[in-house]
Amino acid sequence: MTQLDKGSFRHAMSHFASGVTIMTTTVAGRMHGMTVSAFASQSLDPLLILVSVERSTTMHRLVIESRAFAINILGEQGEGTARFFADNARLDGPEFQEGAYHLGVTGSPLLEEATAYLEATLDATLEAGDHTVMVGRVVALNVVRDAAPLIYYRSGYRSLT
Ligand SMILES: Cc1cc2nc3c(=O)[nH]c(=O)nc-3n(C[C@H](O)[C@H](O)[C@H](O)COP(=O)(O)O)c2cc1C
Repeated sequence: MTQLDKGSFRHAMSHFASGVTIMTTTVAGRMHGMTVSAFASQSLDPLLILVSVERSTTMHRLVIESRAFAINILGEQGEGTARFFADNARLDGPEFQEGAYHLGVTGSPLLEEATAYLEATLDATLEAGDHTVMVGRVVALNVVRDAAPLIYYRSGYRSLT
């Protein structure tokens, strides 16, 4: 029997392939983004999505304040963007480059390179361990392009093609 610890948990979970998204929000003019793979569709009636956000993150603090966020789904060309929004070095300068985004109805940045995005208002939160499950009520969405997805699997970025 494998030991129950963080390392074996991470290793087991790394066998589950996921898509990669950039969660974004804006509070008092401050735009922020963070790479997220713990994202899922939650309900069709009403339209709900869920994201699991670590409580120690800046994103957690900001979404609790803004009560709204966007999920930008990355295509296979998005590895650099995924790495950027997971790295604290991004906080040293502006996180979003002119022309690379526009603001959605919730005020959250929507990335021009996303294959699709959904915007949501915060509907419910569930504190579970060191993360909070954030349930969002979808208020806008758009499919921007038909591109193959970026995949995160076994601690690396992959593509289907
Ligand atoms: C592929 C990948 C997926 C990630 N998924 C999540 C996630 O679902 N939830 C989360 O809280 N952090 C996730 N992270 C970690 C955050 O992106 C990272 O800790 C980020 O720097 C936190 O940003 P902030 O504290 O500036 O808001 C992921 C990182 C990577 C590389």
